[in-house]
This record gives sequence, structure tokens and C-alpha cells, in this order.
Amino acid sequence: MVEGGPVLVEGPVELELDDGTLVRSERFVVAVCACRRSKTYPICDTSHRRRRQPPGR
Ligand code: FES
Repeated sequence: MVEGGPVLVEGPVELELDDGTLVRSERFVVAVCACRRSKTYPICDTSHRRRRQPPGR
């Protein structure tokens, strides 16, 4: 697990979303989004690296 980032798992993997949708990745290592900010959720797209806007901005 990368702090503040994805969970790295050995692939290939099949992930089931809350709505039952299955997402499959054939990569050797899959970065699974743990922050839920990825535009390609459940796969990490590095959105976790972007700074969040401070409150009130
Ligand atoms: S962990 Fe990388 S985008 Fe969510």
C-alpha cells in the first residue's frame, strides 16, 4: 500500500464495484485506487497526487 495512494496488487485481477460491475486488469501489478478520486476508478490514475483545494477556496 502506498500512503495516500493506491494499493498495489499482483495481477491479473478482477475487481467488483459496489454496483456489481466487474473491472479486469491483465497487468502484472495493478494499482487499485484507495482514494476514490481516480477518473478510471477502481484503477489508480495518479489523481491522488494532486493537491486538494484548501477549505474556503
Ligand atoms: S489512489 Fe491514485 S487516484 Fe486514487
